Amino acid sequence: MSEAGGLRSGDNVTVDGASLWNDILETARFGATPKGGIRRLTLTEEDRQVRDWFAAACRALGCSVSHDSMGNQFARREGADPSLPPITMGSHLDTQPTGGKFDGIVGVLGGLAVLRALRESGHETRHPIEVINWTNEEGARFAPAMLASGVFAGVFTEAEALDKTDRAGVRFGDALAGIGYRGPEPCGRHPIAAYFELHIEQGPILEAEGKTIGVVTGVQAIRWYEVTVTGRDSHAGSTPMTMRADALLAAARMIEAVNAVGLAHGPDAVATVGLVENRPNSRNVVPGEVFLTIDLRDPDDAVVGRMEDALRERIADIAAASGVRADFARVWDAPAVHFDPACIEAVRQAAEAFGYPARRIVSGAGHDAAYLARVAPTTMIFVPCAGGLSHNEAESAERGDVAAGANVLLRAVLDADRRLNA
Ligand code: GLV
Ligand code: MN
Ligand code: MN
Repeated sequence: MSEAGGLRSGDNVTVDGASLWNDILETARFGATPKGGIRRLTLTEEDRQVRDWFAAACRALGCSVSHDSMGNQFARREGADPSLPPITMGSHLDTQPTGGKFDGIVGVLGGLAVLRALRESGHETRHPIEVINWTNEEGARFAPAMLASGVFAGVFTEAEALDKTDRAGVRFGDALAGIGYRGPEPCGRHPIAAYFELHIEQGPILEAEGKTIGVVTGVQAIRWYEVTVTGRDSHAGSTPMTMRADALLAAARMIEAVNAVGLAHGPDAVATVGLVENRPNSRNVVPGEVFLTIDLRDPDDAVVGRMEDALRERIADIAAASGVRADFARVWDAPAVHFDPACIEAVRQAAEAFGYPARRIVSGAGHDAAYLARVAPTTMIFVPCAGGLSHNEAESAERGDVAAGANVLLRAVLDADRRLNA
């Protein structure tokens, strides 16, 4: 990262890995589970607690903190020229129902570590520097995932997002107001010069190859579907096997078909049924209705399209053969994303400057960065996680790797500060 072999201003600044690690452990209290993970579904009391903690931690560093009409939080450290749009970092503090301590959290608290390093070194940036906590990245409570960054990027309207309901029928807008985080700034109005997201890989590649840094080049395509299978409730003892309309049996055949479609479109395709609701869910009733979700992904949009076609056909065939009705709806379509070449190169150079082993990688998971890439130069930085395990309470990462990722984040941000609007 040196010019003509010399150090540039900011090249001597590094994050304090110990306080970053403490912050990760500190916030893991909000929604802590007995198995050492976190259950912090978006817009719940636990989410409010961690948001309040984040705002207080940023204010303690002299930053101003605001939130917009979708509850996205912005912590801002002023730059020498406050008229410039901010260079931003961020991710999410919500988790899966059985989530870990790192997914999303490393990106927000890594940003906080960068703010702390800038303050403690007294380094002045040209642009304001901001850390963003995006609302409902996980999509575990309100589908789809990346909902608030999607509104920010103009992919969804705010009205449709506020009207989303969870499985208990609670409206997103009501839950947001309920925790006191529906802010005055209209979502999407916030200027952004560039966006960098630090995240655990959530897969096994970096660990297997002994790499510390993943230089993320993009995010694979994702589509989500909901299927309602309608049969007929009937008595488990007196309804002959040949005279049933068993929605759960049909759903089981559909789940098998989803797996087969994933396998048939390899090598990179993945297909998952992750949520199933069986009604009336009584041991002596032949089930009359099943709700299930499907998640399809591949780095190539065309492959995901072919998987969808195959799936529609298989589900219709299974429904007909099982004597049930299947209502199949696509509820999310997030095409493959390619990040900004200059930002990717800045991350690569930063890893090299620190001497961290690195490789290029495409993200298998969805991230807010995928939507931010539509409105600002964007990229991501990955660090390894143990066994590639994520969306699991046992999710774990090495303290040194997390600090390395935050150092790369800091360098990439300072590079953008020098490079953009020059
Ligand atoms: C977000 O966590 C995803 O589903 O990839
Ligand atoms: Mn995440
Ligand atoms: Mn996640």
